[in-house]
Amino acid sequence: MGIRVCEDRKIFQIQTPNTTYMMGVAGGKYLGHMYYGRKMDDMDGTYLMRWSNNEHSHYRSKLEDMDGFFFEYPTYGVGDFRDTCLRVRDEGGHRVCELHYDSYEIIDGKPALNGMPATFAGKEEGQAAQTLVITLKDSVLGLKILLRYSIFEDSDAIIRSVVAVNESDKKLYLEKILSACLDMDDENFELITLHGTWGRERHMIPRKVTMGKHTVSSLRGETSHEVQPFMALTTNGTSQKEGEVYAMNFVYSGNFIAETELDHQDGVRMSMGLHDDGFEWVLDPGASFETPEVVVVYSAEGLGNMTRTFHNLYKNHLIRSKYLHSKRPILINNWEATYFGFDDDKLVAIAKEAKKLGIEMLVMDDGWFGKRENDESGLGDWIVNENKLKGGLKSLVDRVNTEGLKFGIWFEPEMISPDSDLYRAHPDWAIQVPGREAGLARHQYVLDLTRQEIVDYVYESVAKVIRSANIEYVKWDMNRRIADIGSLGLDSEHMGEFSHRYVLGVYRMQERLVTEFPNLLLENCSGGGARFDAGMLYYGPQIWTSDDMDPVERLFIQEGTALVYPLSSMGAHICVCPNHSVGRVTPMETRANVALSGTFGYELDITKLTDEEKEKAVFFNQQYHKYNDLVREGDYYRIASYRENGMYDCWEVVSEDKSEALVTYVQVRFETRRKSRRLRLDGLDAKAKYRLEGTDEIYSGEMLMQAGYLQNMIFGDYGSRLLHFVKEA
Ligand code: GLA
Repeated sequence: MGIRVCEDRKIFQIQTPNTTYMMGVAGGKYLGHMYYGRKMDDMDGTYLMRWSNNEHSHYRSKLEDMDGFFFEYPTYGVGDFRDTCLRVRDEGGHRVCELHYDSYEIIDGKPALNGMPATFAGKEEGQAAQTLVITLKDSVLGLKILLRYSIFEDSDAIIRSVVAVNESDKKLYLEKILSACLDMDDENFELITLHGTWGRERHMIPRKVTMGKHTVSSLRGETSHEVQPFMALTTNGTSQKEGEVYAMNFVYSGNFIAETELDHQDGVRMSMGLHDDGFEWVLDPGASFETPEVVVVYSAEGLGNMTRTFHNLYKNHLIRSKYLHSKRPILINNWEATYFGFDDDKLVAIAKEAKKLGIEMLVMDDGWFGKRENDESGLGDWIVNENKLKGGLKSLVDRVNTEGLKFGIWFEPEMISPDSDLYRAHPDWAIQVPGREAGLARHQYVLDLTRQEIVDYVYESVAKVIRSANIEYVKWDMNRRIADIGSLGLDSEHMGEFSHRYVLGVYRMQERLVTEFPNLLLENCSGGGARFDAGMLYYGPQIWTSDDMDPVERLFIQEGTALVYPLSSMGAHICVCPNHSVGRVTPMETRANVALSGTFGYELDITKLTDEEKEKAVFFNQQYHKYNDLVREGDYYRIASYRENGMYDCWEVVSEDKSEALVTYVQVRFETRRKSRRLRLDGLDAKAKYRLEGTDEIYSGEMLMQAGYLQNMIFGDYGSRLLHFVKEA
């Protein structure tokens, strides 16, 4: 595979199918970054590291070099005044660390991470992995740092993570330890990040990179609604098809920081990893610490190619679920249909009607357990409320199964309501600082999952419910952010480990869940889409994208989400109308057409639909069965963006063999006297002929891609079309 080393000059070259990444050792000590970009064979790029060797001017000295050198893994305290990746304190309180090159190793395969999600080599031919491990050392501290770079035969992504090992006989305190860094010359970059809030997650925000620092981060204890651990630098004028892109995405589900800095010497540093605010990890003598992974992608062919690199990587090397390559059952979730006001008969009535329409699974959302008539109580008491579910859970599940539907259930395992039996028994289980009243959010506290006994208890109480009936799907929710951080299980020296240990606790529980119930379909969720991240995809193949299912808002949300994550991972449902989040009235077809690009389902009271709406639902469900293989497995192309043009949105999915393509067109606004929209498609076979299904229109692939398809205006706002192009035999 593609890792090469020039032994005498200590140059390391990582080759993926279309990219090259190069590092070297400067001044006999410092590991520097040389090149990342289009593939090339030449290894002679030492001059690119910006190491002066003090030759050019008698004013230059070590500190000048340190502040401009392209470090592969910059450290705090030795004269690099940009944002650095590693800050270590010794027992004397000094924060100086200077890493020198020590050795390297090339290993076949890809190491797993301890207790954390991680990409892995695929089982299919052409999916093997190789890893370069470079060892750096600070001999004064007795600190060893392993930089790991893994590649897969079939991917242009490079996976980076870092291990710190204390080889001294004294304690070391890690105050900051990021997973990846990229030093480059400025090329008039733009920065794209994904921002939002509840109900408007992951909107794409591009902006110029100007002097200084551009930081995106979460300190909410989870990935957050507000911002994604994703960052892309693009060269001027980058479009879907053209321009250079350098992107990073974190395989993690907690606090993170992603920094881009344009410095005084026109250098750009991009880095990503665990947030250092409030973080401190104690490294005892002999102990080690491993960071989560960052996926690094370079594309010379615009954003579209970057997107497909992330999608394929996550599908081939991260998502483990057995459901990854299968149609997920069309589900109906009762949340917006009933909120807390349901009982077994109501759910069975929904199931009965759902079956007639071709829906395949009923998901019972919040409110089935403990004392839970509203969101003010009951979390933590995972015991079926038999006043609501008369005869118990098994009886309900059996009745739903008898109607011909599978059954799924909602949990929020990480939470505890002050008004719950669990809290009355164990008030110390909530995250808290002694003597300080912790703030509530949605009337709830967060359980201290840094403590193994709490993880064990919660896991058991959830697993017991799942074991008690034929439960085939779980929606794992998490409805608040974490503040007032304190654990009764950590002493003062280790309190800075809390946030990372919390995430490790969540991962431990999810690992146990998917191990004990290998046939369970797990959908992660966090008050909508606050835990849409690559870390969660390791455990479940799909994530609830947002509580806002309005199809116009979803254009922004799904554009931003699909920029990084595969369509097969996006939870998307048809909502009730007017929409509960924004009050917008939209045609049922458009709600369906937008949801068909995700995992597909319903979130409305199906028993209250008109006959006409029911007929439509039957049709949408047929459409799902017809198109889902293509949507789930195909290559995604963004054709037009409502965010940019203010009028319409369009995306396309093309099958791997280019024999068919499904184009979704949503015309948000109707305007008079516009002839038609020109949709320039992508990814087709230029030489082939394609028929637009349902018509006798035949086009060459070349014509559709270069001249485009002309989509007539649809009268009225919020119209949409699915256009299915099928290759002629
Ligand atoms: C969160 C989820 C919703 C629903 C509610 C239940 O907001 O995102 O889909 O499950 O919790 O309380």
